[in-house]
Amino acid sequence: KRKIILDVDTGSDDAVAIMSAVLSPDLQLEAVCSVAGNKDIDKTTENTLRVIQLLGADVPVYRGCREPLVKFLCPDRLPKRGASKPVLKDGKEVQMHADYLDIPAAVIREQAISAPEFYVQYLRAAKEPVTIVAVGPLTNVAMALLLDNSILNKIEEIVVMGGGYNITNTSPSAEFNIWYDPEAAQRVFHCGAKVTIVPLDATHAACVTLEDCARFRALGTVSGNFAAELCEQRITVHDDSQPLAVPHAAAVHDAVCVAYLIDPSVLKDVRHVHCDVGFRDFCEGQTILDPRYYTEEKNCYFAFDGDRFKFVDILCDLFARDKKA
Ligand code: BDR
Ligand code: CA
Repeated sequence: KRKIILDVDTGSDDAVAIMSAVLSPDLQLEAVCSVAGNKDIDKTTENTLRVIQLLGADVPVYRGCREPLVKFLCPDRLPKRGASKPVLKDGKEVQMHADYLDIPAAVIREQAISAPEFYVQYLRAAKEPVTIVAVGPLTNVAMALLLDNSILNKIEEIVVMGGGYNITNTSPSAEFNIWYDPEAAQRVFHCGAKVTIVPLDATHAACVTLEDCARFRALGTVSGNFAAELCEQRITVHDDSQPLAVPHAAAVHDAVCVAYLIDPSVLKDVRHVHCDVGFRDFCEGQTILDPRYYTEEKNCYFAFDGDRFKFVDILCDLFARDKKA
């Protein structure tokens, strides 16, 4: 089994990623770390605990950073963030990420140490390399490397949901996770570990349709039902705000990273590239790929496409394994 640590800002698609990782027989989920992003750190931590509890999983949760790195140090650099616009479904307002996931409040609690401290303690002691799957802003991972860079020896791969080449979702040039903490992203992209970037180009291609949601629900499991509910909500918001090439479909970004670890062919057209992050003005949070491949060191694998049929089949297999009905 491949050991992984998930880093999340739960978040509706993070919730699907967590459930997928918990249910996978190929992955051993060692811990889940929360980070501020989609919502503040209290909410992303509570939502993460709710999902773990819903599945009855025995996985420790560590609370992570509450602010992006440089923006914490220099508050005047906090960008003006437009709140995501709620849309109406059956007369009710829906957003891509509700403040709190609509499942029972967490009774289980997070661990005593913070996420960056956990990374350092855990990786120093690890006997074999571990994969980090970071599907929120990269603040915790950068902070852990700042605390102790030698943990790199214990990292097999860092799989990042973030960025975009032809697609953006937060500004004309940026995807949300990278835009939220661009300095952390740049540090992680250049840390020297194997970094695989799963950008919007891949996650929009590997989308989930209303028919796929019906398949999830037909499994009759807790995870299948909850995933169907979350994805349907995401489809409503996508249809209104950023329709995909496939009609009535949604990107479930974060879960694509977990699916990739189960079957790498979920990602298509993966190229070894040089990738930097823009910091200023129009480029803030942009993933900038260098086409001058012959002059620059390649630091990341970047997926330009995804396979939605494989992705949905993997999710169905995972949700079918859920013992909870
Ligand atoms: C990413 O941003 C978040 O809103 C999602 O959870 C995903 O990780 C997509 O841009
Ligand atoms: Ca996320």
